[in-house]
Amino acid sequence: MNGAIGSLYPDRPDHPEDRSDTRRRRAAARLVEDPDDGAEAREFHWTREDFERIRTMIRERAGIHLHSGKQAMAYSRVARRLRETGHTSFHEYLNWLELQEDAEWQEFVNVLTTNLTAFFREPHHFDLFAQWLSRHPQGPWNVWSCAASTGEEPYSIAMAAQEVLGGHASFKVLASDIDSRVIARAQEGVYRSDHLKGLSEERLRRFFLRGTRTNSGLVRVRPELRQAVEFMHINLIDDDWPFKTPLDVVFCRNVMIYFDAPTQRRVLERLHRVIRPGGLLFVGHAEHFSDARDLFVLRGKTTYERL
Ligand SMILES: C[S@@+](CC[C@H](N)C(=O)[O-])C[C@H]1O[C@@H](n2cnc3c(N)ncnc32)[C@H](O)[C@@H]1O
Repeated sequence: MNGAIGSLYPDRPDHPEDRSDTRRRRAAARLVEDPDDGAEAREFHWTREDFERIRTMIRERAGIHLHSGKQAMAYSRVARRLRETGHTSFHEYLNWLELQEDAEWQEFVNVLTTNLTAFFREPHHFDLFAQWLSRHPQGPWNVWSCAASTGEEPYSIAMAAQEVLGGHASFKVLASDIDSRVIARAQEGVYRSDHLKGLSEERLRRFFLRGTRTNSGLVRVRPELRQAVEFMHINLIDDDWPFKTPLDVVFCRNVMIYFDAPTQRRVLERLHRVIRPGGLLFVGHAEHFSDARDLFVLRGKTTYERL
């Protein structure tokens, strides 16, 4: 690992629990409980209309539904773009954004996504996945992590696969996300060591390299693991998913929770189209799709089989 690794991390927090983000959100929360209150303490003028515009824009672009309790979050996240683009009010920034090409829209989406994730999060999915691989040791393995965030999920899938199939198997997982910054970080495969708490010594040794000197406190996924993951930018609400062959397993976890019910239904119908009959769909712990019984049947805790 070289000395530049520290600079791979822009001051974008790992997730919304990040301290600086939380500090800003707390300050904003005090201010927007009543948008007409405390205007003098607010860095930027903020109105309900600004919030409604942000809400509509992010729903149309990413399917993300911000409920009214998310005002403070919207203020603090989008305020970052105002600072970075030199705008002095939300009104002015949002007018400007409407005239922009894709690059600024991507930044707007990036600041409004929530990227919390962890290695082997919801471990029962990886046990079931390992069992599925043991039953299909010859492949093909068409596996998709469709809201991969900073990479912990697809690397966990690849680790589980290498443990079952051995390091020489040609197993690949496709990892995608709408947020271009998290996908770039996933591709780098560099993490803080404390982010790997809970991984066994055996997994740490087999799959990670420890940083030394200026990189101490950081780890990098080993090239053999890195090569088992392909990265892409895919928006789940777009029509142009790139699949030509049916998928066997999809991890679609902790993303649909941000969509409203009609959007969830549309995404589930599309997932149904790309997963082969009998294929598996893993979803997040708070995601229940009992209304989609015509498409998927529950086969275990937050695990569905495609009908
Ligand atoms: C909370 S993280 C979940 C990460 C991982 N799947 C897990 O369960 O640990 C949600 C991810 O969904 C992504 N996301 C949100 N809207 C999306 C969309 N329309 N298309 C693809 N990814 C989206 C976000 O960028 C974020 O990285």
